Amino acid sequence: MDKLVINGPTKLKGEVTISGAKNAAVAILPAALLIDGVCKIENLPNISDVRTYCEILEKLGAKIKWFSDNEIEIDARNIDCTQAPLDMTSKFRASYYLLGSLLGRCGTAEVGIPGGCNLGARPIDQHIKAFESLGAKVDVSQGKISAKVKKLIGNSIYMDVVSVGATINAILVSVLAEGTTTIDNAAKEPHIVDVANFLNTMGADIRGAGTDVIKINGVKKLHGDCTYSVVPDQIEAGTFMLAAVASKGDILIKNCIPEHLDCITAKIIEIGGNVEDLGDSIRVSMNKRPNKATIKTLPYPGYPTDLQPQMGVVLSIADGTSIINESIWDSRFQYTCELNKMGAKITDQGKTAVFEGVKNLTGAPVYATDLRAGAALIIAGNIADGETQLYNLQHIDRGYENIEEKFRSLGAKIQRICEPD
Ligand code: UD1
Repeated sequence: MDKLVINGPTKLKGEVTISGAKNAAVAILPAALLIDGVCKIENLPNISDVRTYCEILEKLGAKIKWFSDNEIEIDARNIDCTQAPLDMTSKFRASYYLLGSLLGRCGTAEVGIPGGCNLGARPIDQHIKAFESLGAKVDVSQGKISAKVKKLIGNSIYMDVVSVGATINAILVSVLAEGTTTIDNAAKEPHIVDVANFLNTMGADIRGAGTDVIKINGVKKLHGDCTYSVVPDQIEAGTFMLAAVASKGDILIKNCIPEHLDCITAKIIEIGGNVEDLGDSIRVSMNKRPNKATIKTLPYPGYPTDLQPQMGVVLSIADGTSIINESIWDSRFQYTCELNKMGAKITDQGKTAVFEGVKNLTGAPVYATDLRAGAALIIAGNIADGETQLYNLQHIDRGYENIEEKFRSLGAKIQRICEPD
């Protein structure tokens, strides 16, 4: 089992360049199946979820050419299979986008019930509602989801909950449908806008992405012959912002969109940090112990759940008692047990956790319980006294490109050790 060995404490200082957004990439790749042509995608993060997605697309008949670790060409002219391999699709959450794109392109789709991080119940009723609204019949049984339709007809879809995945799937299934689809109570995350921009570049007619009402006028065909660059990763940028704060460091975070990070910036300033918006980069520094804070995770533009564990590390060493209320996922405080092994004083009661700030953390063997928890524990290892050994790296590798190299370039003493199982 591979592990990261981190020796702290280190004040992280220097520059880091943010990769393309994981959550945009894992939606844009299946969206490319809607294109009866060839498209080029740049700024793809080189992470295991992207590599797995590319393998799945190839199994469905797409041809993929890699120009570099971050640049590919997808030729989706000959999609000849609509049954995605169950073992691969059930490994990660974003495989549900294959349902929308295969239904849209071929009128039939079969995908394993999506896996991904264990954050509690992850229903897909709103995805199914979107497919059924446009006329599809959906069946969930024997570990898979199957959907079929003779002809997709645009319709109005009201989302009962604000869901990133269901909003994107509703877009995917509507792009080639006959007539107009309206999505009310849509999610507004930056990667939803990115998927819509990608599809519009390829000939779709999607309006209003980034607001809570999205209108899709169905088109007959997406033409391809275009190049698209994936938006910078809001969550990776936020992770390094919080790493700067936790370590009392000074980091210039390049290739990011500061506007996507407004609510993280506001919280960092509230707890005593400094944030400088430099247009396409952001500089974050901290020179004292953070103040206590109260945080509630919310859909965008609220405080993102995917930056909750990283903020948890900051609050674990804050001056005073802080509270985090997690309103999106039921089981997103599993990392607090690991932080407590490092000397934190956190108690969680369901969806609320109380952080009694301690002066410092100490190194310990800990386990990444999910992707963002893993990133949080890297930050914790960097600020803790002594050696931290971090296990379960497969979670982190799903979503962060070259994470230890990036931390090392900021002065972290971090090393990956490959150990036979
Ligand atoms: C996406 C992100 C994930 C992030 C989450 C919230 C991707 C690949 N993953 O996940 O990193 O943590 O947004 O920002 O982009 N819900 C339902 N019914 C549904 C769908 C969702 O009740 O059909 C609920 C969920 O249980 C959850 C809330 O809606 O409480 C938000 O979930 P959603 O936005 O769908 O998350 P994902 O798209 O799975």
